[in-house]
Order: sequence, then C-alpha cells, then structure tokens
Amino acid sequence: MAKIRVAVVGIGGRGEWAAVAAARRGDTQVVALCDKIPAKAQWVCEHYGLAGARVFDNVQAMLAGSPCEAVLVCTPDAYHAEVVLEALAAGKFVFCEKPLETTLDKCRAIIEADDRAGGKVFVDHNLRYAPLYETVKKHVEAGDVGHILTIQADEFYEGGKTYFRRWNRLRSEGGGLWITKACHDLDLLAWFAGGNPLELYAADAKTQFVPRADAARQCRHCKIAETCIDRAPKEPKSLGRITEEAGGGPYDLCLYNAQSDTFDHGIVTVRFDNGAVATYTVNVVTSLEDRRLRISGTAGTIDGNLAGNTITLTRRGNRQPVQIPLDVEKAVEHGGADHWVLESFIRFVQGSAQPRTRPRDALLAVRMGLAATHSADTHDVAKLSEYRI
Ligand SMILES: NC(=O)c1ccc[n+]([C@@H]2O[C@H](COP(=O)([O-])OP(=O)(O)OC[C@H]3O[C@@H](n4cnc5c(N)ncnc54)[C@H](O)[C@@H]3O)[C@@H](O)[C@H]2O)c1
Repeated sequence: MAKIRVAVVGIGGRGEWAAVAAARRGDTQVVALCDKIPAKAQWVCEHYGLAGARVFDNVQAMLAGSPCEAVLVCTPDAYHAEVVLEALAAGKFVFCEKPLETTLDKCRAIIEADDRAGGKVFVDHNLRYAPLYETVKKHVEAGDVGHILTIQADEFYEGGKTYFRRWNRLRSEGGGLWITKACHDLDLLAWFAGGNPLELYAADAKTQFVPRADAARQCRHCKIAETCIDRAPKEPKSLGRITEEAGGGPYDLCLYNAQSDTFDHGIVTVRFDNGAVATYTVNVVTSLEDRRLRISGTAGTIDGNLAGNTITLTRRGNRQPVQIPLDVEKAVEHGGADHWVLESFIRFVQGSAQPRTRPRDALLAVRMGLAATHSADTHDVAKLSEYRI
C-alpha cells in the first residue's frame, strides 16, 4: 500500500509531536510542515531529519504546492476552523486537534463543511484512545457498574500552570480553561455517562496566578526569579526561542503578571438525562500530574488512575476491589492516547477504521465548555439547550 502523505499545520508543541510521530511510522510520509512562523517548521525539519518535507508559511500555499492525502491541524484552538475548512475544500482528510473550536459558529462551519465532504474530519479527543479509558469504557458497556449513578473525574496538572504564559490564558485564543483544557474531560464524562447533559453548574476562581508587584513581566528581568518555583526555564526550548526571535512573544512571561482572563482552579457538576450526575475538578496550582476517575453504578464502582495506569472494580455486595488488567505496554505517551489516536486516524484515512470523535461528537464538549464558562461567570446554572447549533 502506498504511504499516506501528510502535512502538519501549526508547528508548536503539538505540531512537533504530530510531525515526529507521523515521520516515525512506516506507512506515512511527512511531505509538508506549515507555520505562520516558518522558521519553526524549518527547525523541526532539520532537527528531526524530515528529509522531503517542504516548509510553508500559509495553508493555501501548502495545499497548492504539496500534494497530500491528510492534513494534521495543530494551530491554537481559535484557529482550527480556518485551516480545517481550507483542507476540506482541497479534498483532504483532516486530523483536527481538540477542542473542535472555541465558538458555536465556528463549530457549525466545520460540521457543515465536513458533511459536504462526506465525513473526512477526525477530532483528536485522544483520551478516548488511552488504554485506561478505553478499558473502563469496555467494562461500563459490559454492565460491570450497572446503571451509572455518579461519575467523578479530576485532574491535577502542574504543567497546566504554563498556560498562564501561553495563548491558553486568553479566551480569545483558547476559549478559556473550560474549553481548551476541560474539553478532554467533559468529552469523557459524556462518553461514559452515555446520556445527554441537561444542565451544569461550574465554580471557578483565579487566586494564584494574579498580578504580583514584586515580580517582573518576564522571568529574565525578575529580581525574585532565582527563588520563584514558577519561573520559566532559563534556557528556552528551541521552538520558544524561535517564536520570540520572530516577534511572536517572549518565552518567559511571568505566570502572575501576564494578562489572563481564565481561572486556575474549578469544579463543574453536570446532570444527565439518564439520571447520571458527574463532577470534574481541574487544578493547575499543584505539583501533581494526575487524572483520576471514579464511576459508580447500581452494580459496582470502577476507579481509574491515569498516572498509575491502574483500574479497580468493586462489585456491589462484595467489598473486595478487583484489579482490572491493563496492557501497560500500550500506555506509552499521554497514557498511550497519542500513539493510538494517530494509529486510528491513519487507519481512518486508509478506510479501515472510523473515528471515535467526529465533529458532531466533539461539539458536545465545546457546548459544555461554553455553558461552564457562562455558569462560572454568572454563578448560575447553565442549560445545555441554550448552547445548540
Ligand atoms: N490532544 C492533546 O492532548 C493536545 C495536547 C496539546 C495541545 N493540543 C492542542 O493542539 C493545538 C496546538 O497547541 P500547542 O500547544 O501546540 O500550541 P503552540 O502555540 O505551541 O503551537 C501552535 C502553532 O500554530 C501556529 N499557527 C497559528 N495560527 C496559524 C495558522 N493560521 N497557520 C499556520 N500556523 C499557525 C503558531 O505560530 C504556533 O507555532 C491546540 O488546539 C491545543 O489545544 C492538544
């Protein structure tokens, strides 16, 4: 079978992963990298020896100049639609990063274009492919917890503090943390609950990453940098340095003094139409890097821990938890999510697999994220029926 030719758009952290992961496969060939700062694409080509990949600074030129079957869209959240629409119009299969987009209008544009194209978009809700969540889902579907009553999910993520020096800190770029971050988990809550969310209540606050008079705007100029546990690394990553040199903003913005309009900790409670109720907690002011999940129903309780790659099932009537075997060999990179989501996308392009998350499926997490943002802003319950396209 001929290799699938792929192009990657948006060569930041995620685009670097996508380009390198695709290049390592035997059945794909990376033919183009595109970034509005082309020096970033050039660096990835040279650093990883992606011989044969051409560099572009805009998606139109890339689509016209570099034949390919698939486009991997790794631009920031508020810039997915513009690239996805171009790629679909050019007849490509599309791997679109999560979240689908940041507004209902842009989600609708992607869904309609995907319908016209006959369904060529695969949305990267990669946690659905993590062996841990995949295994939990199988046990839920097999009836091991019975009728689901409660779902508790939480994420404590130290790396998330860096959002406060990146575009994710701005709603205009990422929709706020209820969308750019929580879309993963809101998607999982609905996937596991197996029902439609009716309403939710979100409470959030930003109490840590707020302006500090004793700190500078950039770590390199800051008199407390040497003792600050939140300072940026002294040596920037190559892509961060190149971004700064190209005028794309400094790599060492202060987490406290960079302007932001999102929150650093929050909890959302969701009520589903099948009687399930769920909560999700997100906290980026922590030293932990962990996602945990508890699903409890009429027949039993499942506990999952992504960092430890462990799942236990405690059946009702028998208090002894049973360890559920997990193929930890599969759980590499993002708990295995990244490897298996790319594998599944390539098989989708080849015609041998269907996406777990098409644009219509991914829309739900954006609707929930928008509702959570509104709920937290207004301190009021938000009805999902008000967030439809
Ligand atoms: N699924 C996951 O686990 C996961 C993990 C990390 C990030 N992401 C998603 O990946 C996407 C990228 O995130 P990131 O952290 O890599 O961001 P980033 O800022 O590191 O990289 C984004 C790149 O896109 C470029 N860009 C912006 N608009 C462009 C355009 N119109 N054309 C070409 N290039 C453009 C920027 O110059 C930048 O280099 C986001 O949607 C994010 O939510 C997903």
